[in-house]
Amino acid sequence: MKHLFTAALLSAAVAVPAAAQEIKIGYALAEDSHYGAGAKAFEASLTESLGDQFTFRHFPSSGLGGEREVIEGLQLGTVEMTIVSSGTLSNFVPEAGVFDVPFLFRDKAHARAVLDGEIGQEILAKFDDAGLHALAWGEQGFRHITNNRGPIQTPADAQGLKIRTMENPVHIEAFRALGASPTPMAWPEVIGALEQGAIDGQENPLSVVVSAKLNEVQKYLTLDGHVYSPAMILVSPQLWGKLDDDQKAAFQKAAAAGVQAMRDYVDEVDASGVAALKAAGMEVNELTDEEKAAFRAALDAPYKEYEAQFGKELMDRIQAVQ
Ligand code: PAF
Repeated sequence: MKHLFTAALLSAAVAVPAAAQEIKIGYALAEDSHYGAGAKAFEASLTESLGDQFTFRHFPSSGLGGEREVIEGLQLGTVEMTIVSSGTLSNFVPEAGVFDVPFLFRDKAHARAVLDGEIGQEILAKFDDAGLHALAWGEQGFRHITNNRGPIQTPADAQGLKIRTMENPVHIEAFRALGASPTPMAWPEVIGALEQGAIDGQENPLSVVVSAKLNEVQKYLTLDGHVYSPAMILVSPQLWGKLDDDQKAAFQKAAAAGVQAMRDYVDEVDASGVAALKAAGMEVNELTDEEKAAFRAALDAPYKEYEAQFGKELMDRIQAVQ
């Protein structure tokens, strides 16, 4: 009788489903941004694959702090997941900075082929040695300049412009070479600094200009596409280390769904964003290929340094990808 009772207790214990693990996911932009789209697509795919093994708590709009702080949270294991720009990534894996080199990628198709291909995957794999686990490269689109001083048509127009850059040495050097006054700043401070006139401008892709409503604090938009802006989906090594092979495969599949959602958002905002920003009162100018070439020529000196830093061979390999 006693044995029967113990067996019943044991089987009742086995029948209790394991508690779902909560994944705190932090990102800098609103839920209706490309990051929000990527995070929701990730969640939907993972839930489809693994049922209720994991639940998600979203912290959009820098709810867990700036991107650097969130990445440090992943290293510490206090945050499970994030989608971030390449802004501070090269502080963790220096090689990742190569994708921040201005005018490196011809277009989005080129960037996507590189990031999905051998070179992108080689760099993703380096994040494990930095106490992080990178699942995939996502996307923000090509970055453009916004400001309150006037249209920027030539490098001379950028002279002395107090422009917020990400805390990214490659970008800082490029804007310095253009004669601007680059001011590195974490994203959560940017809107306030623009409102107060502490800086004249900033640079970000249309996905950010539209989703963060930068038209409310910026008058001029110059479509110069000076650099492609990748994003990355990262998880904490603590979370990754606990997953079995099936769960890891489901996370990888979910990351692919997240990347696709980000790219779809970027394609859509690249097609419709300029009209919406003009309608909202922004003055927009677009650089011709010749005008862009003048900006690229002004970056000859930093380019030599980028080649020394990342290796000319790697930069040539990237440019050779079709
Ligand atoms: O400019 C930045 O810091 C990034 O592009 C942003 C807006 C935080 C998105 O990751």
